[in-house]
Amino acid sequence: MRLVLRRAVLALLLLGLAAAPSLAQSRVERGRYLVEVIAACGNCHTPKGPNGPLPGMNLAGNFVVEDNSDFRAVAPNITPDRATGIGAWTDAQLMRAIREGIRPDGSLIGPPMPFEFYRGLADEDLAAMVAYLRTVRPVANASEKSTYRMPLPPSYGPPVQRVTAPPRSDRVAYGAYLAGPVAHCMECHTPFGATPGHRDMARAGVGGQAFNGPWGVSVASNITPARHTGLGLWTDAEIERAIRRGISRDGRQLFPPMGFAHYAAISPADMAALIAYLRSLPAIER
Ligand code: HEC
Ligand code: HEC
Repeated sequence: MRLVLRRAVLALLLLGLAAAPSLAQSRVERGRYLVEVIAACGNCHTPKGPNGPLPGMNLAGNFVVEDNSDFRAVAPNITPDRATGIGAWTDAQLMRAIREGIRPDGSLIGPPMPFEFYRGLADEDLAAMVAYLRTVRPVANASEKSTYRMPLPPSYGPPVQRVTAPPRSDRVAYGAYLAGPVAHCMECHTPFGATPGHRDMARAGVGGQAFNGPWGVSVASNITPARHTGLGLWTDAEIERAIRRGISRDGRQLFPPMGFAHYAAISPADMAALIAYLRSLPAIER
């Protein structure tokens, strides 16, 4: 009897040992999917030249994201380099920076890093992002400091406590989580409202924001189900092609900063949830 028990305990211990690294591994994999694919952090944090992302510089920063009358925003190095990246930050410090916009020294991280949305990142997804960021190849690359000519708010809100993602079985709710806190689709595709710095979420998806870059000017599309100016007449396959490959319904190649280069690898289930959510938005013509 005792021997059987001892064997059972041993078996459990061995199982535990075998499971531990694979759990950690799946967390890193989840983090990789979030950071590199659907959240597309590199859209801002990876420096780009005329031919796209600079080789060997994934997430190495010093990339001017926006230079306008209000600010010159430079996305910094978020590789684990200790001197010029986030290598010396603790997990808790990194999580606070990503979700609440506060650096370890207490200073506020400025726009356009989309904190309005990242505040809704679920604890486990945030932890996965951090686990993955630790595994990125460290690159020594000092970043120019951003300049903000307008006042920044004292904070983006009270400290975030616990956040859980909606169940995946609720496609529309999970799609809203993906299009909001995770991929910040709604950051680019929703017009600003009356409160400075805040989107008018009653018009979520209506688009209209203009983005200047080497491509000229691109204007965020209306991605509500509006029939004339939105996606109302598009098939699911056409919407998927636009998101994954950057090809509009009429075959036109879309411009950045629409993140299709990252979105190509979005999982089929997440794509279905995103499309279900877009179809659930009020149809508003622009
Ligand atoms: C729309 C562009 C944009 C996106 C998307 C974005 N960031 Fe940022 N991020 C910035 C900018 C710009 C700054 C610096 C702002 C400043 O200088 O105050 C920044 C700052 C940071 C910092 C602070 C680094 C430091 O040294 O101060 C961290 C950490 C960070 N981002 C992580 C992430 C992660 C992880 C993601 C994806 C989940 C992400 N960012 C997505 C633009 C972006
Ligand atoms: C950084 C800003 C940004 C983010 C993030 C973003 N988009 Fe876009 N998106 C744009 C812009 C700008 C265009 C229009 C580009 C053009 O016309 O060349 C666009 C175009 C589109 C189109 C094509 C519509 C048409 O009429 O051709 C779809 C669909 C779309 N986005 C969906 C999404 C979804 C879903 C997400 C999140 C997974 C997302 N976008 C994230 C900026 C963004």
